[in-house]
Amino acid sequence: MSTNATATVACDVKDLALADLGKRRTDWAFQSMPVLQTIRKQFIKSQPLAGIRVAACLHVTTETANLMITLRDGGANIVLCASNPLSTQDDVAATLVRDYGIPVYAIKGEDNDVYYSHIMAALDHKPQITMDDGADLVSILHSKRQELLEHVIGGTEETTTGVIRLRAMAREKVLRYPIVAVNDALTKHLFDNRYGTGQSTLDGIIRATNVLLAGMNLVVAGYGWCGRGVAMRARGMGANVIVTEIDPTKAIEAVMDGFRVMSMHDAAQIGDVFVTVTGNKNVIARDHFDKLKNGAILCNSGHFNVEIDLETLGKIASSRRETREFVEEFAMRDGRRIYVLGEGRLINLAAAEGHPASVMDMSFANQALCSEFMVKNHATLEKRVYSVPEDLDKQVAKMKLESMGVRIDRLTPEQEAYLAGWAEGT
Ligand SMILES: NC(=O)c1ccc[n+]([C@@H]2O[C@H](COP(=O)([O-])OP(=O)(O)OC[C@H]3O[C@@H](n4cnc5c(N)ncnc54)[C@H](O)[C@@H]3O)[C@@H](O)[C@H]2O)c1
Repeated sequence: MSTNATATVACDVKDLALADLGKRRTDWAFQSMPVLQTIRKQFIKSQPLAGIRVAACLHVTTETANLMITLRDGGANIVLCASNPLSTQDDVAATLVRDYGIPVYAIKGEDNDVYYSHIMAALDHKPQITMDDGADLVSILHSKRQELLEHVIGGTEETTTGVIRLRAMAREKVLRYPIVAVNDALTKHLFDNRYGTGQSTLDGIIRATNVLLAGMNLVVAGYGWCGRGVAMRARGMGANVIVTEIDPTKAIEAVMDGFRVMSMHDAAQIGDVFVTVTGNKNVIARDHFDKLKNGAILCNSGHFNVEIDLETLGKIASSRRETREFVEEFAMRDGRRIYVLGEGRLINLAAAEGHPASVMDMSFANQALCSEFMVKNHATLEKRVYSVPEDLDKQVAKMKLESMGVRIDRLTPEQEAYLAGWAEGT
């Protein structure tokens, strides 16, 4: 692991000379993160994380930078590595190292070996708290670095796929410390997954391709929180949105929200642009590749690059080449051309900048408050996955509303009694 020559802390980043740009962009994002600003001020005073070693494995974006700075200011001794090989913003990694003295291990476009070596470097920090996005850090800690588990008091997890993996670990009784599922907070998934992924996924598709979405058949695979957002926003851009699902209830919801719902087998034949957001594997696979129209564009916004079976696509293509940045063309033997964006990795982070800061404000407020919660409560928690405490979730919502200047009503004592009772009906 290299220590960058001019860095004062250990790191592996692309180029520290990018730090000026990263600092300006990080400051810009912070302006749209009023809840995190408030928490940072509180943390500076109360030092809830004083001396606590934290290893964070997150997308290295401007918003993450502001979370890292907040945790550092709350007393944490923090190290950051990437949670995806293609989601790092190299200028942000540079400013965190140069201007804030935070060790970062992340380079955009790193190969899998470097990606995992960066996770190892973060673990070398002997974390007491892990902050993960996708559960790669936790999984490696439990499988390859078990000697470090004795130091860990707890963790937090950012995304749906990570929470699913951690719950599987807890079910199999292999999870060795408590973890709070930040994704479960209403102030996280209702907004980040829906509006954040909705907007930024389209942003990624457009930046990568510059296609006009109006009039296109855009297929969204998965009508969960992210899928709802992508479908809703794509309709707003004039696309004819088609939804595919495996859950009958979600499928009805999509129908009643006004979308066409069909199997991927049928959608494959008419789709122009495909977006997978299922958290599942091989959602677009061999059978579908055979049916795709010439020029079909495939991308993924789910956590891992397993939703499109790229290995098989590579095998059945006669040739492949990069046509423009983040766009790879697969020439099929029958003359059709199929395009894959951002190597099938989260397109909103690969080709765009990820979620806007104002939505990450709530997600990362939850992260900051949950790490404080973990430090205070770890001794009484079991080795399982916890939801974000409701009062903490509500606190984030209140702070966000306040920052927006929105006032809402309060229950009167009479209303409170009415809602709490059963006697009164008329
Ligand atoms: N791109 C981002 O920035 C970003 C942000 C948040 C979450 N995520 C990731 O996006 C993925 C989805 O997250 P979510 O919160 O929407 O999850 P979710 O559980 O709310 O929704 C997933 C949906 O996919 C459906 N599904 C599963 N397999 C399917 C298949 N084969 N075909 C069609 N539908 C299928 C499920 O029934 C479910 O409705 C996860 O991997 C999550 O980690 C990405």
